[in-house]
Amino acid sequence: MAVREDDELIIHVAGDAPAAQMMRRYWVPVALDEELTEAGGAPVRVRLFGENLVAVRDSTGTLGLMQEACPHRLASLALGRNEEGGLRCIYHGWKFAVDGSCLDMPTEPAESTFRERMRVRAYPVREGGGLVWAYLGPAEHAPPFPAFDWTTKPRSALATMKFLENANYLQAAEGSIDSAHTRFLHRGSSSIRGAGEEQRRNALSRDLAPRLEVADTTYGFRYAAIRRPNEDADVRRYVKITRYVFPTTAILSEPLSSARPALVQIFVPVDDEHTMHYSIFHALHGEALDEATIRREHALVPGVDVDARWHLRRTTENWWLQDRPAMQNGSWAGIPGVMTQDVAVQESMGPIVDRSAERLGTSDVAIIRLRRRLVESVRGFLAGEAPPGLRTPVDYGRIGAVPQLVIGVDEPWQDVATFPGEYAPAAAASRMT
Ligand code: FES
Ligand SMILES: [Fe+2]
Repeated sequence: MAVREDDELIIHVAGDAPAAQMMRRYWVPVALDEELTEAGGAPVRVRLFGENLVAVRDSTGTLGLMQEACPHRLASLALGRNEEGGLRCIYHGWKFAVDGSCLDMPTEPAESTFRERMRVRAYPVREGGGLVWAYLGPAEHAPPFPAFDWTTKPRSALATMKFLENANYLQAAEGSIDSAHTRFLHRGSSSIRGAGEEQRRNALSRDLAPRLEVADTTYGFRYAAIRRPNEDADVRRYVKITRYVFPTTAILSEPLSSARPALVQIFVPVDDEHTMHYSIFHALHGEALDEATIRREHALVPGVDVDARWHLRRTTENWWLQDRPAMQNGSWAGIPGVMTQDVAVQESMGPIVDRSAERLGTSDVAIIRLRRRLVESVRGFLAGEAPPGLRTPVDYGRIGAVPQLVIGVDEPWQDVATFPGEYAPAAAASRMT
């Protein structure tokens, strides 16, 4: 019974649900930068935590995010005219600035003060890392912007991707901390980190049953997938470390080839049954990336694989266009693109998987930890505690991709690429003993 209650607590991320309220305390991506490039351009509809919103770049170039429904009679402001200094509803002409104030109310008498008292909900917005971000929590609790290393890189060193997944955010997030699946689901696919990576990995280790170990950090946790290397397996181990940053960001390990970019994935709750997936590749040394080619490699080209509303062409209805003949001829999953493969299996569980029916194994340790930390965090939040990463300042600039290494069996993986203050006090204390 308790498990069921815990599941309910962390899967509901819309409206007043406790997890929604907790996650609103963090900055979250709302759009790719390319959706909102033009001052005075078309508004963009956005749905976050079950709330319908409209993002806009006003005529002065300032970005805003406001409620979609016009407060007059609730027509969509996404239909609005983006005019001088604000968005004007096309129904009766009420006009709103990106700070939420009402600039014009032409249907009311000139002497009316109704306009001065009228506001729309509006949220602070920022740009960084090829994304537009917003903070949707109470203004008095707004944390500093999470300035990850990749959010300060030149745009040319980034390649971004986005699509809607028809599943709860937790199914999507759990896929990013599930090391054991890569060598099955993604077998033979050009790896998420590019061609040749799979061969390099197999040359290092052919172990299919990684042992997972987790350590709590101030921002969430990090875990190591530990495999027996092909050589010196009695004295060495191959560790691949992922950082999970609350509420829903996965910092995947560095690729084995430093010529390839690192990858960050963010799973933004749209509502209980939908998640906006953002993948951001960033060049480790700031060199230029070919974004169009990287999108093609992942079968995530806007207008081809993904429609104007970021829905994938491959869906449950067409069974993700799985190609059975290709599976007879060397393709493992019969679906191209590692992220589409992830989506297929995650959507195939149903929009909200029944976790009471799962049979978790030893390779699911990180998933179990994520659920536990989420439950603890939401319960703590309800009791008035700040969630992970918001208690004390976190240096997001140091939460980067960790190199994959072969280390001695006696060397603690927790020490690989760590920084002072990374570990949560309890985890740090247990490391001392
Ligand atoms: S509904 Fe927007 S002005 Fe009337
Ligand atoms: Fe995957």
